[in-house]
Amino acid sequence: MERGIDLERAAGLLSAGRLVAFPTETVYGLGADASRADAVARIFAAKGRPRAHPLIVHLAPEAELDDWAIEIPDAARRLAAAAWPGPLTIILRRGPRVSLATTGGNDTVGLRVPAHPLAQALLRAFGGGIAAPSANRFGAVSPTTADHVVADLGDAVDYVLDGGPCEVGVESTIVDLSRAHPVLLRPGGMPREAIEAITGPLAAADAAAPAAPGTLASHYAPRAQVIAVAPEEVPAAVAGAHGRIAVLAPAQAFLAWPALAAEAYRLPDDAAGMARALYAALRDLDDAGVDVVIAALPPAAGLGEAVGDRLLRAAGPRKDRPQ
Ligand code: TXA
Ligand code: MG
Repeated sequence: MERGIDLERAAGLLSAGRLVAFPTETVYGLGADASRADAVARIFAAKGRPRAHPLIVHLAPEAELDDWAIEIPDAARRLAAAAWPGPLTIILRRGPRVSLATTGGNDTVGLRVPAHPLAQALLRAFGGGIAAPSANRFGAVSPTTADHVVADLGDAVDYVLDGGPCEVGVESTIVDLSRAHPVLLRPGGMPREAIEAITGPLAAADAAAPAAPGTLASHYAPRAQVIAVAPEEVPAAVAGAHGRIAVLAPAQAFLAWPALAAEAYRLPDDAAGMARALYAALRDLDDAGVDVVIAALPPAAGLGEAVGDRLLRAAGPRKDRPQ
C-alpha cells in the first residue's frame, strides 16, 4: 500500500485496474474503474462485501450524465444541476458504460459528482467513472480520514490519496429517480429539505425500492454496544447500563447532566458539526475500549436526519449485522 498525494500515480493505478482510496467531502471512497468488471471485483474482495450490493459511480463535474445513464427524467437533470458537485447520489437507469459488476447486476446506477477538490482532480486525471463504496470493511463505520482507511483496509488497497479529514462526515444522500416517484433511499450529507425544494416530497423506501445494504438495520455498527435515545432519556439509560459507559452528545447537553456516572464524549452542538465528528467519535470510543455508548439523538432537521439515522443503525440488533 502506498499513501500520498500523487494524482498521476493514483490515476495510473486506476487505469491498470487497481484500487485507489480517495477523499470525498462525505467519507473516503475505495475506487476502481467503473467500466471494468475485473477492477470492480477487487473492491468487493477488499471490503468483504457481497457482489450483489451496487456501487456508486463518481463522475467529474464536466462528465455527461447521458454517457452513464439512460431515460433520464427532467427532475434528475434539475437536481443534478442544483446539487452537484455535492453530497448527493442519484439512482437512474444504467447506461452501457457502467459495468454490470458495478451495479451488482441491477439495471440502475447510482451517480454522484463529489465536491472534494482531490476527488475531482483524480476523476479528471483518470478520465472515466470511478466506482467507489465507502473505504471501510463491510459492516464497519465509514472512514473520514486516511488513517481510518489504512486501519481498515491496509494492503488490500494499492494507493491511499490523503486529503485530510472529510468536511461532511456522513455518506451522501441517495435519491432514487429511476421510478415514477422520487424516493429517499438514504438520508445523508445533503439535507432532505434542499432536495425536496427541487423534486417535491420524497417518499420513504418501500418493498419495490432497489436493495441497498446501507439500509440494513445495523450497517454502521462499531464494536461497542450503542444505545441511541432522546437527550432527556440519557441519564436513565446510563443508570441502566453496565460496564464502561460513554455518553456521546452535543457539548451543550452535558450542562444538564452534572453528575453523570459515565465518560463524556463531547460533539459540536450544530448538526453539521455532529455529522463531521460522528464516525471518528465512534472509532475513538472503540479504540478506548468502551463497552456501551449512549448516544443522544439530535432533532431530525437538516443534517440531523442523517446523524440520527446512523446512530439508530449503529444501535440496531447485532444479529442483523453484516459481516
Ligand atoms: O458518500 C458516499 O455516498 C460515499 C462516497 C465514497 O461517495 N459512498 C458510499 O458508498 O457511501 P457505499 O457503497 O458505502 O454506499 C452506497 C449505497 C449502498 O447502500 C448501495 O446499496 C447504494 O448506495 N446503491 C448504490 N447503487 C445503487 C443502485 N443502483 N440502486 C440502489 N442502491 C444503490
Ligand atoms: Mg458504506
